Formats: sequence, C-alpha cells, structure tokens
Amino acid sequence: MSEELKRQAAAAALEYVEDGMKLGIGTGSTARHFIELLGEKVAGGMKVIGVPTSEQTAELCRKVGVPLTTLEETPELDLTVDGADEIDPQMRLIKGGGGALLREKIVASASSDMIVIADKSKLVQTLGAFPLPIEVMPFGLGSTMIALEKTCRAYGLSGTLSQRKNADGTNFLTDGQHYIIDATFGRISDVNGLDVALRAIPGVVETGLFIGIASKAVVAGSDGIEVHSPSA
Ligand code: A5P
Repeated sequence: MSEELKRQAAAAALEYVEDGMKLGIGTGSTARHFIELLGEKVAGGMKVIGVPTSEQTAELCRKVGVPLTTLEETPELDLTVDGADEIDPQMRLIKGGGGALLREKIVASASSDMIVIADKSKLVQTLGAFPLPIEVMPFGLGSTMIALEKTCRAYGLSGTLSQRKNADGTNFLTDGQHYIIDATFGRISDVNGLDVALRAIPGVVETGLFIGIASKAVVAGSDGIEVHSPSA
C-alpha cells in the first residue's frame, strides 16, 4: 500500500517537470519511484538533465536512462524532487534516513524550487518522532558527541544519540565519508534554534533539518493526492 502511495506521489510530482529542466534528483524509496517514472518520460522524448543526490540514485538514473550532470557543470538547477522522513506544517523537513542528507541539501539549495514527495504517514505536527540524522566528521568524534549532548540539553531535549551502523556492525559512512549520529528526541520544540546550534559545532557537517528549502509537498493518501504549501 505504502509503495503504491509513494508511486502516486512521484507520478503527481512529475507533472511539475517541464521539458528542458535541470533537475535535482532525490534519494530513497519514494525518489526511486520518481526516477523510474522520469526514465519513462525520457524514453518518450522528454529532455531533462539531473544531478543525483547519492551514488545509489546515480546508479538508478543510469539504469533507466536519465542523463546526469554535476553541480560543477550545472551549478544552478530548476527543481529538486526528493522524499522526506517527516514534514511539518511549515514545510520544515527531517531528511537523511537514507544517509544522503548532505548531498540532498546541497542539491536542493542549488535549485530554484524543491518539491517533496511522500505518502501521508510523513506529515507530522511537530518534528522529532523520526530520529534526526546529524552528519559528523570522523575526526574528533568523542568531542563532537559531548558537544552534541550539551547542545541537546540546552534545547531541553533528552533522548539518545547513537552512531549509525551497518548491518555487519561497521560504521555507516556517507557518500562524503562522514558518520551519521541519529538523535532520538520524540519532539523538537525549537527546530530553527536547534539547527543553528547543531551546525555551530565544528565537527558537525550538516543536520537532516531542511528549513525554508521546500516550497511544496505532494502527498499521497488513501483519499488521493494533496499538494501542501508551507503554512504562514
Ligand atoms: C535519504 O537520505 C533521505 O533523506 C530520504 O529522502 C528520506 O529518508 C525519505 O526516504 P523514503 O522515501 O525511503 O521514505
């Protein structure tokens, strides 16, 4: 069911893709549907070029025939379409469940517009039930963890900070060769303040909080497609 909803959201977002567009192409199971459907459009003659947000997405794009470029060759994009782990009414997002948050944020920020695609389960009133991914440098991890704990306490957040591991117990490494710390908070009351404070820690590369980046969410539920804009 949820795969069907993800595909419906991906198909509806494809309506915003115009011939000739330079696209940022997201990562994750919802973005995968978008890439497959985009591949069909390209096979039918649509001309687009995309910047992938992960190696995984690049591989799928090559498989389905979506032409790729880089931000070096094409530094300004028209539209990024990507999934999210949580979406709040102000269209602030938690992303990075798949570990691609840094490239996702760079690509989305290089785009004039970002559309989020999701099934309805991703809509929340308050961010934080999904663990917040924080991308950190391997160097100085111990000190960075202490700084993260202090910052979280200063924002009234209790919970666990755990380093993401692969199934075989080895450290999960992002495409940029960084680690991910998953922060389980439950709810984040001051999303914007927390983001600024976390990013001020020298060992932090990025957070999975996407604030002021997405302009629309195309959300599929059992009752159809809804297009959300940020509430005032
Ligand atoms: C990848 O790093 C993430 O930001 C994904 O976009 C996010 O986790 C949503 O993934 P799904 O579409 O698989 O739920």
